[in-house]
Amino acid sequence: MLRTLAIAGYRSLRELIVPLGQLNVITGANGSGKSSVYRSLHLLAETARGGVITSLAREGGLQSTLWAGPER
Ligand SMILES: Nc1ncnc2c1ncn2[C@@H]1O[C@H](COP(=O)(O)OP(=O)(O)OP(=O)(O)O)[C@@H](O)[C@H]1O
Ligand SMILES: [Mg+2]
Repeated sequence: MLRTLAIAGYRSLRELIVPLGQLNVITGANGSGKSSVYRSLHLLAETARGGVITSLAREGGLQSTLWAGPER
């Protein structure tokens, strides 16, 4: 079981550390980063399967997945 999720510099997530339980529910306002958390987990799973290059390309390339600074 995954016990902690740590994400840094991925899309809008600058630094996030979340202790995980058996069931985890993510809620938040629009644009708060829920999908970014989901996508980071997907990318992690793809990495474990050896498909990170294809997965990054599907996401729009490495550059689009890096934190790009605050929205203006
Ligand atoms: N590379 C990046 N750098 C910085 N911010 C980014 C990057 N990519 C996406 N974002 C921003 O991250 C924010 C969070 O988006 P996300 O889609 O994860 O939110 P959400 O909680 O799923 O919203 P919704 O409820 O509308 O689905 C958006 O404002 C988006 O513009
Ligand atoms: Mg979303």
